[in-house]
Amino acid sequence: MSKKTKAIFLSIFLMMFTLIAAGCTEGGSSEVNVGIVLPTKDEPRWVQDEQRFKDAIADTKYTSEILFSQGSSAKEKENVETLINKGIDVLIICPQDGDAAAAAVEAAKKEGITVISYDRLITNTDAVDYYVTFDSLAVGAAQAQYLVDNAQGSDVPLYLYAGAATDNNAFLFFEGAWKVLQPKIADGTFKIANSSEAEALKDTADLSRDQQSKIIGQITTNWDANDAKNKAQTHLTAVSDDSKGDVAILAPNDGTARSIADVFGSDSAVSSFLVTGQDAEKASIQYILDSKQSMTVFKDVRTLVKDAMGMAVEVLDDKTPETTGSYDNGEIEVKAKQTDVIVVDKANVKKELIDSEYYEADEFTGLE
Ligand code: BGC
Repeated sequence: MSKKTKAIFLSIFLMMFTLIAAGCTEGGSSEVNVGIVLPTKDEPRWVQDEQRFKDAIADTKYTSEILFSQGSSAKEKENVETLINKGIDVLIICPQDGDAAAAAVEAAKKEGITVISYDRLITNTDAVDYYVTFDSLAVGAAQAQYLVDNAQGSDVPLYLYAGAATDNNAFLFFEGAWKVLQPKIADGTFKIANSSEAEALKDTADLSRDQQSKIIGQITTNWDANDAKNKAQTHLTAVSDDSKGDVAILAPNDGTARSIADVFGSDSAVSSFLVTGQDAEKASIQYILDSKQSMTVFKDVRTLVKDAMGMAVEVLDDKTPETTGSYDNGEIEVKAKQTDVIVVDKANVKKELIDSEYYEADEFTGLE
């Protein structure tokens, strides 16, 4: 073999080796270390998380893959199985339905995979190792406190809305809000306009899970902007004008807040409304700047992703992740790491979201 032929063979060999090595580290059909399963691409909240995960993954030596369940627990289970077959050691999963996800994580656990419940708790199973979350009670409390601080006078009509009953967070948000609102309903600041179940329980400070279920069953949006819109329309059609005027609305998140706000904004008998939100979605930041939504609760997804990926890396490095508390999932106490939230309204939106480089100023109009 001539020197030239040898050199050609060597370079072909090197090229093939590089391609095989790249295949091993960049997913595809090869080994994946961390599997990530998120609930749906249809809500900006979870697309935000996907982007932040991609940024965080770029900084680790491990490989990962992100799959979406598109609102289906069956698809979620299939996603978990796909990732198990790719050899994952850690599963980070935000369940579509907290109870239904138990079967999926039990399958992962059987394979020795460490399960991290992400943002939403997987309930009634012992197959969850860790929970990485925001302080969801504080989210609900902050929403309610905003209504209390900004409502004027007494007998202010109060419209209550909640998240999906299949999401444990919907209970935590409502529990946090009820603790703050209930005394203000009892003292006549607010009068409940749209829930007979909440009205029946208005003197009960600490609601049991069953009592919460009754109220949430009546005021759920299912985390769906259309459901929220339909409910708001039905409520405004059902009430008389003395439940309109200046009103307060507990809306559980930004997606539902915007559609509820649109409905209330188009009723001529509603002279003003306060409406809460959560997630700091771009569209809601614009609504806040346009005075169409009062506030949002900013949950810095960068921190949650950093905590979840940090935990995954510690597990992969055979270390024990640090936790700050625990959550009862109905079956076990799940060790948890919790992150604080920030209330954002027109007054601090620039400081919290632009100066912190979460969003860019040119994505909005009307920023001062
Ligand atoms: C999350 C919220 C989100 C909601 C709807 C909750 O579990 O904590 O951030 O808006 O689900 O997807």
